[in-house]
Amino acid sequence: MLEIVIHPNDVLRRKAEPLRKPNLSARRLLDEMAETMYAAHGVGLAANQVGSLRRLVVIDVGDGLIKLINPEIVRRDDEMVEGVEGCLSIPGLQGKVPRHKTVQMRATLPNGRTEWFDAEGLFAVAIQHEIDHLDGVLFIDRATEVWEIVDEPETDEADGEAVSAEDMDAPQDVGAK
Ligand code: NI
Repeated sequence: MLEIVIHPNDVLRRKAEPLRKPNLSARRLLDEMAETMYAAHGVGLAANQVGSLRRLVVIDVGDGLIKLINPEIVRRDDEMVEGVEGCLSIPGLQGKVPRHKTVQMRATLPNGRTEWFDAEGLFAVAIQHEIDHLDGVLFIDRATEVWEIVDEPETDEADGEAVSAEDMDAPQDVGAK
């Protein structure tokens, strides 16, 4: 498991470098990032957040894990939607953040293949949030409103485990209304 870098920290403000091609160390780091993301109950994690300046991202918004190398947004919807976001690197804060409603992303997969993703909803927001991390940008930079989370963990009735909103790396409710 990796330690998540907490804001403020220089590595969160630097631009990550693209990889020429997927290598063993990148694939290992992606595996460890996924483990770390799940342990923290996040829906996405960028390499900057574990102290590495390589363009690597993991995302799982509930449709399964994807590991991305050099992810790049190649098309953006003009229409913006505002949703609530948090970040594993900024515990205790949430904000209202405008994002492009849909995006198309190109990325290299760990097997070396290039893949295109058409994303909307939470997936689109997670992509924009995580690629921002690779460019040293945090949700608080884009937020129209930021607030502190009141430390009052809710109880998840299903398993009695305490869950709190600050555990999410990406938004809680995105354009769902
Ligand atoms: Ni984040």
